[in-house]
Amino acid sequence: MKEFTHECHYTLYAFDELAEADRQLVLSAQEATKRSYAPYSHFHVGAAVRLTDGTIVLGSNQENAAFPSGLCAERTALFAAGAQHPEQSIVALAIAAADADGLTSIPTPPCGACRQVMLESETRAGSPMRILLYGTQGTYVIEGVKQLLPLTFDGSFLKE
Ligand code: THU
Repeated sequence: MKEFTHECHYTLYAFDELAEADRQLVLSAQEATKRSYAPYSHFHVGAAVRLTDGTIVLGSNQENAAFPSGLCAERTALFAAGAQHPEQSIVALAIAAADADGLTSIPTPPCGACRQVMLESETRAGSPMRILLYGTQGTYVIEGVKQLLPLTFDGSFLKE
């Protein structure tokens, strides 16, 4: 018998401690929460991705009366970036969320399906994605999707 442990390493920063580029991406994610369509959950999520050339692409959750037909903010942003800028790689992703009380105090972690899509973007980019999870109490900074998704399934499992 052999036991394995995965650790998730992340750092908590006060907003003012973040580097300028990170602050800018977090502010973009905050702005994106205002574009969310969430009449059912009233939980407004915003995502902002930075591309290799510095372009920022926004996404927000888009809900639907047939619940599974909606999409999370992160995947909206990642797919929009892939569709509009296929020649660019995604280097960073920031997430923020707002509920009836305003921007949430606890940072919002991406759901499992979004983590899998983030992994695909990271694999495509060939380098770890910088992940910024914003809350008014602070921002978690995470270096690479594998911190959030151990035992990853990626394209290397699929035979050509
Ligand atoms: N949601 C996101 O957009 N991203 C997440 O990481 C968590 C959940 C959305 C989906 C749904 O519209 C609402 O938040 C409540 O689950």
